[in-house]
Amino acid sequence: MPMAERYSALVPAAGGGSRLGAVVPKQYLELAGDCMLHRTLDALSAEPRLSDILVVLSPTDTRRPPAGRFDRRVRFAAVGGATRADSVAAGLEQLDANDSDWVLVHDAARPGLSAAVLARLIDAVGDDAVGGLLALPVADTVKRADAAGRVVATVDRESLWAAQTPQMFRAGILRRALAGDHTGITDEASAVERLGLQPLLVRGEPGNFKVTLAEDLQLAAALRLGREDR
Ligand code: C5P
Repeated sequence: MPMAERYSALVPAAGGGSRLGAVVPKQYLELAGDCMLHRTLDALSAEPRLSDILVVLSPTDTRRPPAGRFDRRVRFAAVGGATRADSVAAGLEQLDANDSDWVLVHDAARPGLSAAVLARLIDAVGDDAVGGLLALPVADTVKRADAAGRVVATVDRESLWAAQTPQMFRAGILRRALAGDHTGITDEASAVERLGLQPLLVRGEPGNFKVTLAEDLQLAAALRLGREDR
């Protein structure tokens, strides 16, 4: 009988978070009495199918959670690189995953992932040949701007989706996708698309937004993201 496929999470958390303007990297900013990174790891830890949760930190980052804060599935590797794709590629090398095992890459800066939507992604993609990602149909009208901040065009939003994470691919496909040059790769799906493959879009949720700006953190706190009593 073939071995059951394993599901691992890989959390790139090696960014500086310069757009937030904070002194500490954004994953360490406070959220619900702990830091955003730990709240994101709580969200992933709620999924029993994940056998391994690997956090990729910057090589200069010596912060670690207190002993016992997480269960034994959560590990840290200070192997992050200059870009998110570099960090993910370095993390992949630390994972004990066969080519057919699944890897769910999830931003440290998305603490609002719910257990239900994480389960929906795994259920929807678990039989897929390519893999897939959480995303939301774009609801706002989309404008293309020039350098002066004036509208050049209105982009047809029909069939446009905004990508979220986790992005779930088999380790073999992900390794192939990230083997070359990472220029222009902003998420794993875009790297997989370069292989000529078409990842599956699975409906995410508005609360699973990426904390990028200071007001996003206020919104995350106002929505009680990361709180057990939410
Ligand atoms: O900067 P951005 O919001 O796009 O980062 C998305 C995620 O990628 C964050 O969790 C961040 O810590 C991570 N990242 C990384 N290594 C980098 C840049 C970003 O792990 N060099």
